[in-house]
Amino acid sequence: MVSRVIPVDPFDLVIFGGTGDLARRKILPGLFRRFCAGQMPENARIIGAARQDLDDDGYRKMVGEAIEEFGKVGKVDKKALKAFQKQLHYVAVDAKGDGGWDALGKLLRDEEEEVVRAFYFSVGPSLFPDLAERIRSHGLAHAGVRIVVEKPFGHDLESARELNEELARHFNERQIYRIDHYLGKETVQNLMAVRFGNMLFEPLWNAQYVDHIQITVAETVGVGGRGPYYDKSGAMRDMVQNHLMQLLCLIAMEPPARFDPDAVRDEKLKVIRALDPVDPDSIVRGQYTSDGEANSYREDVENPLSKTESFIALKCYISNWRWANTPFYLRTGKRLNSRASEIAVVFKETPHSIFGIDSGRHRNVLSIRLQPNEGMTLGVTIKEPGPGGMRLIDVPLDMSFADALGPEAEEVTDAYERLIMDVIRGNQTLFMRGDEVEAAWSWTDPLIEGWERRGDSPKPYDAGSAGPDDAAFLINKDGRRWRGIKS
Ligand code: BG6
Repeated sequence: MVSRVIPVDPFDLVIFGGTGDLARRKILPGLFRRFCAGQMPENARIIGAARQDLDDDGYRKMVGEAIEEFGKVGKVDKKALKAFQKQLHYVAVDAKGDGGWDALGKLLRDEEEEVVRAFYFSVGPSLFPDLAERIRSHGLAHAGVRIVVEKPFGHDLESARELNEELARHFNERQIYRIDHYLGKETVQNLMAVRFGNMLFEPLWNAQYVDHIQITVAETVGVGGRGPYYDKSGAMRDMVQNHLMQLLCLIAMEPPARFDPDAVRDEKLKVIRALDPVDPDSIVRGQYTSDGEANSYREDVENPLSKTESFIALKCYISNWRWANTPFYLRTGKRLNSRASEIAVVFKETPHSIFGIDSGRHRNVLSIRLQPNEGMTLGVTIKEPGPGGMRLIDVPLDMSFADALGPEAEEVTDAYERLIMDVIRGNQTLFMRGDEVEAAWSWTDPLIEGWERRGDSPKPYDAGSAGPDDAAFLINKDGRRWRGIKS
């Protein structure tokens, strides 16, 4: 299967924080892959901007090394890399002062040349207002300019609102691309394709037929070198408020009239607004302890008294006609026993079994695997082969996208490269709108305030396990069990 590559318009992409970790690991290797795929026009330019004193050659060398290290392209094609490097430039810019801005302005092509101009804020959110202000005051923000901002988008509702207001002083909503990289993942978009491209699922996709839905995003890694950030955030702010909420929205939303930015984002917003507050008894927070080899969470973040959660599981409800009384179980954590992200739609049992009680209780389950081994499995009930009566068993109808679509599916476009190309194309469908982000904080803030007020401590769990026992209890007490990772 050969995928079609449609080249984008010529662009000037300025990456603030162009020497930073995200730029080196994700953004630049992603752009190189798009270059190799023939999607980047020859006259596109990538301009690294950071405080470091570098020239074009120094930057090209640094980017070359980053691509060798993080490029995921197997053996790097030297000729292609050289050609890509020619499209790279560098300007030393001071985000909090005026240094470098004139030089940056000179490098950018005029509006009349019809070149897309985008500024990627790959820096901490505290610098967003400074950058927005300076782009405007140095006359670099014409009406077609786009800015790309990274998470975390605020720390709570108030700070997110302030950020939205700051950005709105200089740019309108159509110009602001808030990244949630989960929306750039192939299978996450497949959720929409599966739901709205097939007749099979949508009629059953509601409280009448669905027993419950589970969303698990399990990681084996710890917090690594991001302790100072993570310890102030925890799993709720780092993962649930954004990535898991986005997955929940795509699973639960009504069919948008069109696959266009506002139609999709309006529907997602309605889901967030229909979420009930969560009962404190329906939230389990955890923190990993050492497995004897690797550090404990507290050692990782160098805070021996930390009460921040590295794991969270919760049960929530969406109060609308489609989902009334259907539990949604969400779970995410670090240093768990496997890396697996999965959404499971667990259907109800048949209303009556014609086969009698000996045939057991069976439920269809649709599991959508986001990573690894992207694909879908539909559990169906069949007759156990052999004589001796009608015994029923569940078997998987399994579809791995790699098997079904061939080797190219294994090289799925990385979330970042897809999202950056969408910025250049001016397509905001896979980016969060300001009101969506604020609505998500409005839901998570009271939960966080609740446990802070009560002084709750997270439950310890062994690194390499499935999380605290209480997380299993949360679902088991409802007569259900977690799926997706080993328990
Ligand atoms: C990031 C979080 O947004 O997503 C990290 O800050 C997390 O803590 C990461 O590890 C997970 O992303 P992925 O694509 O590896 O599932």
